[in-house]
Amino acid sequence: MYRLIDGKKIAAEVKQEIALQVTQLKSAGKKVPHLAAILVGDNGSSQTYVANKVKDCEEVGFKSSVLKFGNDLKEADLLIHIANLNNDDDVDGFIVQLPLPAHISENKVIEAIDPEKDADGFHPVNLGRMMIGIPSYLPATPFGIIELIKRYKIETAGKNCVVIGRSNIVGRPVSILLSQKGMDASVTVVHSRTKNIESIIHNADIIISAIGSPLFVKAGMVKEGAVVIDVGTTRVSSPDTKSGFKLIGDVDFDNVAPKCSYITPVPGGVGPMTRVGLLLNTLTACMKKM
Ligand SMILES: NC(=O)c1ccc[n+]([C@@H]2O[C@H](COP(=O)([O-])OP(=O)(O)OC[C@H]3O[C@@H](n4cnc5c(N)ncnc54)[C@H](OP(=O)(O)O)[C@@H]3O)[C@@H](O)[C@H]2O)c1
Repeated sequence: MYRLIDGKKIAAEVKQEIALQVTQLKSAGKKVPHLAAILVGDNGSSQTYVANKVKDCEEVGFKSSVLKFGNDLKEADLLIHIANLNNDDDVDGFIVQLPLPAHISENKVIEAIDPEKDADGFHPVNLGRMMIGIPSYLPATPFGIIELIKRYKIETAGKNCVVIGRSNIVGRPVSILLSQKGMDASVTVVHSRTKNIESIIHNADIIISAIGSPLFVKAGMVKEGAVVIDVGTTRVSSPDTKSGFKLIGDVDFDNVAPKCSYITPVPGGVGPMTRVGLLLNTLTACMKKM
């Protein structure tokens, strides 16, 4: 019988821990953490993500602010707004919600963020620090995945771990974190050009799928007793929900789960932990200044 990795429950626990720390800061007469977000354009998913981040801040007692701009915002102007947040002493951490309109370079934007305020952990300085294993702001999703693995006491040392997907925000960083001393997994990263992908996945003790291809991981690819962490979230339209859409993971949950020792659901697995990662980075940034 598999065990469900309940990201919603763990995220609620971590949020309570953060809220307690905020209460302690307040009663010591200190400033509460302030997370800012820049939202450019009218992408529906981005609007929802930013609204959820504001809600999370309220829940744990953080201050939050959102700077909203239209699709026609010039790259140069966005860089000025980023510089202003870099120089604003009241803002501890901030994010620029991705994706950005095509005329704006995401890399330029990420590099313009002060690494000390980089709540998303996407800046090359933070990725470099992570790479060599010194304290840094970790990208929120890999951070959330590692936290789930630790809190469920899932053994990683010496295990074969296959990460499906090699993006800079999920696949690649989580592969680095899992192979570091302390986690000690043997990690293989597979992607769209990998040959024999099914047999590589079948060899995995731990599978982390981050590709955004609904139900890609089928029962036949999964070894008995494997741990399966599904990062993928693809929006598909659905007449059954109020919003008119539902989220589908990369894993064919119904057929894969009976073979697993542990598995995350979608939604309610990695997603809530990603949001918590952002809060923790902001809390750290605020406490560092004290
Ligand atoms: N739950 C959360 O909090 C959270 C957070 C972030 C992302 N996500 C979700 O996670 C998924 C991945 O996001 P991302 O930003 O990492 O995506 P991404 O930048 O689009 O990268 C996708 C990766 O998957 C690989 N890939 C795509 N199709 C494949 C296939 N059929 N077989 C093998 N590899 C394949 C791609 O390979 P190539 O490099 O060869 O193109 C690429 O490396 C999306 O569904 C996204 O919505 C969820």
